[in-house]
Formats: sequence, C-alpha cells, structure tokens
Amino acid sequence: MKRNIKQLISQMTLEEKAGMCSGLDFWHLKGVERLGIPSVMVSDGPHGLRKQEEGGDHLGINDSIKAVCFPPAVLSACSFDRDLMHEFGDTIGREAQANDLSVVLGPAVNIKRSPLCGRNFEYYSEDPYLAGETAAAFINGVQEHHVGTSIKHFAANNQEFNRMSCSSDADERTLREIYFPAFETAVKKAQPYTVMCSYNRINGTFASENPWLLTEVLRDEWGFKGYVMSDWGAVNERVPGLKAGLELEMPSSGGVYDKEIIAAVKDGSLDEAVLDQAVERILNIVFEYTDHRETQEFTLEADHALARKIATESMVLLKNDSVLPLKETEKVAFIGEFAKKPRFQGGGSSHINSFRISNVIDSISPDATVRYAKGFSADDDVYDETLAKEALETAKCADKVVVFAGLPDSFESEGYDRSHMCLPGCQNRLIEEILSVQSEVIIVLHNGSPVEMPWLSKVKGVLEAYLGGQAVGEAVADLLYGRACPCGKLAESMPYKLSDNPSHLSFGDGENVRYQEGIFVGYRYYDAKEMPVAFPFGYGLSYTTFAYDHLRMDKSDITNSDMVKVSVDVTNTGDVEGKEIVQLYVGDLTDAARRPVRELKGYEKVSLLPGETKTVNFTLDYRSFAWYNEAIHDWYAASGDYEILIGASSRDLRLSGKIHLTSQRTLPFKVHMNTTLGELLTDQRTAGYMEDFKKKLSTIFAAPSADGRRDEDVAITEEMNTAMVACMPLRNVVSYGFCSKEELLEMIDKMNGR
Ligand code: BGC
Repeated sequence: MKRNIKQLISQMTLEEKAGMCSGLDFWHLKGVERLGIPSVMVSDGPHGLRKQEEGGDHLGINDSIKAVCFPPAVLSACSFDRDLMHEFGDTIGREAQANDLSVVLGPAVNIKRSPLCGRNFEYYSEDPYLAGETAAAFINGVQEHHVGTSIKHFAANNQEFNRMSCSSDADERTLREIYFPAFETAVKKAQPYTVMCSYNRINGTFASENPWLLTEVLRDEWGFKGYVMSDWGAVNERVPGLKAGLELEMPSSGGVYDKEIIAAVKDGSLDEAVLDQAVERILNIVFEYTDHRETQEFTLEADHALARKIATESMVLLKNDSVLPLKETEKVAFIGEFAKKPRFQGGGSSHINSFRISNVIDSISPDATVRYAKGFSADDDVYDETLAKEALETAKCADKVVVFAGLPDSFESEGYDRSHMCLPGCQNRLIEEILSVQSEVIIVLHNGSPVEMPWLSKVKGVLEAYLGGQAVGEAVADLLYGRACPCGKLAESMPYKLSDNPSHLSFGDGENVRYQEGIFVGYRYYDAKEMPVAFPFGYGLSYTTFAYDHLRMDKSDITNSDMVKVSVDVTNTGDVEGKEIVQLYVGDLTDAARRPVRELKGYEKVSLLPGETKTVNFTLDYRSFAWYNEAIHDWYAASGDYEILIGASSRDLRLSGKIHLTSQRTLPFKVHMNTTLGELLTDQRTAGYMEDFKKKLSTIFAAPSADGRRDEDVAITEEMNTAMVACMPLRNVVSYGFCSKEELLEMIDKMNGR
C-alpha cells in the first residue's frame, strides 16, 4: 500500500506533530487515532528481545517477557560470518514480528577502545571493518521482516563513566577511520530504519544536537533515510536537537520538550517545515512496519538451537597443547561454579529474560566421566578454603581438569567501567593451586572483555567462551568434546596487561576524554609498536590445520576507480572437517602518511572437509587503500605500492603480494613562507622552483670551516646535507641572500597558481 504521508501530516495539528517527536511512554511512540496513525512499540535488543510489558526501565532491572538470549556481540562477532549474522538477524526479525515490536534497539557497534569499557560485551570489535560488516549482515536479516533496527550509539561512545555528559575529543581523521565506519558501512549496505544517537558529546557538542554528525555526515554523505532517535534520556536541548537532525526523543519526557517545540514554531525560531520533515521520517518507518505485519510464531525452541549454533561457531580456542578435544573415556574434573551457573550475558539494557539456560554439566554426553567441584562462587571474589580443598582433591584424581573461570556479573555492566583487567583473585589463586597438583589443565573463560591470564604459560588449553548466550553450556560441551570443531577468531586483541592498551593514559577521564592514541586503536597500535600481545586480533585455533597457497590478483597496477580481485586457495590439511576464517590485510608502503602497519580489508569464512581445497575470493576498491585526509575532508590513497597480506590472523600472515596504485587525485598544496624545502622538493608542482636554492644551500652546509679546513670532523655528508635542506623553511632563502623577499613572495604566488 502506498501511503501519502505528506498529506497525512498536513491534517495533523501542531501539537500532534510535536507529539510524534517524543515517546508515549518508555517503549511506545505516540499514535494519532483520528488519523489512523498507530502507536508502535520499540524494544531492546540487540541479542534477544527485552520486551517489557509493564514497568519499563533501561537498566534491565524490571521483568521482560521470556525470550531467547543469543550470544552478545562480543561473541557473535568472533564468528566472522556474514551468513550466520544474517540468519541471526532474520530470527530476531521474526521474533519481533511475533511479539509486535516495530524496532529492535541494536546492533551496538561502538569500537572497543579499551578492555575496561563496561559495555564492551555489547560491542562487536576494535576493528571498524569487522564491526561494520557484521552489523550490516545482522540489520539486513532483521529488516527483511520490515522490523527496524536502531544501530547505536552514534557516535564515539566508548566508555560508561560519565557517559551522559563527557565529551569524546578526537580529531576528524580518527572519527572517520575508527569510530564512524561501522555506522557508515551499515547505512550504506543495510540502511537501518533508525539510528540511536549516543549520550556523550563529541568535541564538545552533544551527539543529540550535532548537525554535523546527524545531518551532514549521516544523511548528506552516507545517505541515511530513516529517523534518528535519542538514547534513553540523551536529549540536552530539544529544539536545537530537532534542528540538528534528532527526530525522536526517547523515552517520553511527559510532554516537556513537546511544549518547547510548539513554542519555537509559534515564535518563529523553528521552521515548521523542519518539524514536518521529522514527522514524515518517523511515520515512514512506523508504516513500513504496520503495513507489513507478518504472522509469526515465537519459536523459542528453534531459536535456542540457533543461539547454540552461533555460540559454537564463535567461541575461540586460544591454546591447545594437545589436550583437547576431551575423550569420553577420560576422567575429567570440572571445577568452578560457572560450570553449573554459566555467565552468558551482561548487565543493563540488553539483559534478556532467558526461557532456558544450558550449563556444561547437563550438556555433556551421559557416557562422559566428569566430576564436578564448585571451587569458587561465580558471583564474588572470596577464596573459600573448603571449596578449594575439595577442588584440589577432585583435580588430583582426574586425567584432565577443566576450570570454568570468568567475571562475576558485578565486574562488568552497562553503566560503569571496570577498573582493572583481572579475574577475581580467588580464581587465579585456585588455578595456580590446581596447577601444582595437575598438569593437564584447561581453562574455559566466561567474560565480556579480555582478562589478564597470569597462568597462561602453565595451562595446556584455553577456550574463550566470552558471554555465550543461553545455549552456552551446549556450545562449550560440543567444543570441549570435539562434537564441533572450534572456528571462531578474536574480534579484538588481548593484551598481556592493561597498561599495554593504547588508551591507557586517557581512558575514563571525566569531562573531556582525549582520544590521544588517534587511529592507533587495538592491533593498529600493538603492530605499530611491535608489542607482544597475549593473543592478536583475528587469532583462533581449530582441531584441524589449514594451508594457504597461490595468492593471485587480477591487476597489479590500478587507479582510483579500479576494483581488484584477490584469490587464494585454502586447504584443510588435518583429519577433521573445519572452518577457517581467511583474512585480508592491506599495508600502505607509500610513506605518504602515518598509517597502521596493516588493516583488515576483507575476510571470508570457508568450510572444508579433510583434504579439501577451496578458492577464497576478495574484492578491493579504492577505499580499501585509502585513509581520511583532513585537508580535503575525503578519503585519499597516495600513489605508490600497497602490500596485500593474507593470513590466519593479524599476526599469522601466510602470503603477500603488491599492488601499485596511481592516484588520480592530487592534494591541495598551499605554499607559504614556512613551507619546508623538503615538502616543496617532493611535490612535482613545486620541485622545479627549488632546484637552484637546493644547490646553493648544499654549498653553504658543506662549506669549509672558518679556519679553511675541511677535515673529517667538519665535513658534512651528503645525507646530512639533504636532511638539513629538507627541513629548511622557505623564508630562510631570503636570510641567506639567495633572493629578495619580494622575489620570494612572487615565486610563492606562482607556485600557488596565482
Ligand atoms: C542504552 C541503550 C538502550 C536504551 C533502552 C540506554 O540506557 O544506552 O542501548 O537501548 O537504554 O533500554
């Protein structure tokens, strides 16, 4: 049905239009009954439905309907699997239709700047390419059911401390290269129906009233067509917000801000056309949903099975010294309360009321021989002598020990950040004690963000289960006993210790948080610093092995508009079926700007039977090579060579090739008195003007010393000479008497094309 929304708006009163721009209550938008505008409901999100039928809150405190808790983003991103994320989204879309929800509030794509952010478990990655691809696949899946998503929190919301008032202070290049692209990709590839702006300010201006962010970048540049809603309570000043591009205020503020909108229209300070446009954008999405209602059932059981599949395909095997998979014939000890009471989701607005939770003990085969000892509580950090003693006895008598460790709920949540990166001390202590009586020790981790692993070199196996969703127990059991082959890889780097993290000196500041590490976030920093990490980005083991061969590219010389096809053959060289995540990184060898050593620009997950080979294909475009140049406010790749690296992780690069790019874009170059000779000599537009000065300067620097000697001590080498000339500002040619100031100014004008 094609609706004439503009005509509908023309029938609305000013009060009704202002009312459309804020919530009816905590979860509903307003309707206008006399005009047939329905009141629709939105709901968290993102990894399951948190539909609250009464008693709304945004911290996951009050009850919500029984639903399926799928793996939170921290885990699902490790699948590196667009098809799986699409299936996940498709299921959420069906569930939303079954429960009459017009928009699901997610996905959350903020970049993991520090392991400390209390909400990292809800975010995908430290890498914007991975986060963007993952989000786009999920959104497309949901929206196939005409249910909207609300990609959040736009933008640069990377800490919980003072999240409603602090300012994320970052330069434009950093925002464009690191903190924006996940949103940009999602908008361009999946057109989310809504975007949720964040609480924080960006360089001083609240995201909720930032015209550059909400209109220039989001709509004019990226082509966003839906509506922007505020995070819950993120409105600072309503009328400037509406003008900036914030269409919907959530939740209701009891009409306080609606009155301000009405008054502003009446006194002429707000053009009514701005209000009309906002209403039109909101109604487009409302009717997109209500005109396409589907008859769906809430298939809890089937969806639980998908939650299990996502968890199994995403958990990351970090270490395996021939200790896994376990055999049913082995006597195994399971230690730690997480084995009975797994931590599988985080706290806050994404908290799902799971209809069922599986634990690992109930999920193993009845033929397996497992003894359980609690060892420690999953809820706090208290070393209990009795529990520890019992655990040690159990460990001694077993062939192998699996310790289920992790972070208690109170350690990480929406609303606050962690203050350290450690597991509870009681767990680390017990692990060490177990290691003194047992050598075959495996750790399974339940955590929403990396932890330090002081025992890492001594244990034989580590399985990173992260927060696995409600089917966590089945997924862990499948992987431990080899009923499934691990195939997830890390969507974030795991540093050895917190202080290695690049944001360490500015993370968590109060009012102005300076993003001083710039674009060097996560592996971009660790690689540039050549710093060892516990586990690098993109890393993950399997029960089989893979060989990489025959890298080929369909072009070796390209210009801006070319696409390059890259292919590689991958073979399963082990004895079990498995999946490999093949990663493509690009390194800039042109030296035109300070850039990360390499950046992820492609990935594919491929399933292989033992002995099977498949060709994996990637396509690169100009953007794959480019960086954000603030002088032109656009993406730019310089002429020169670029390295194409194919690998099994960011630090396990198996094949490499080179591509030469001839850029068709020249950067503006404005010459002034303090432009250096080096800059002028390397730019073809100005090099010719400098030759004469260069020669003269070389003779000055290389001239004999005052006493006429030119011995070893005073002689200046060619390299020193070149370096000194390169750093010389243009004005100095006047003081050296090579030309007059007037002549130089005339030359500058010529170089500037005047
Ligand atoms: C969170 C959002 C959430 C909203 C509604 C806010 O506190 O930041 O992510 O969607 O509450 O619960």
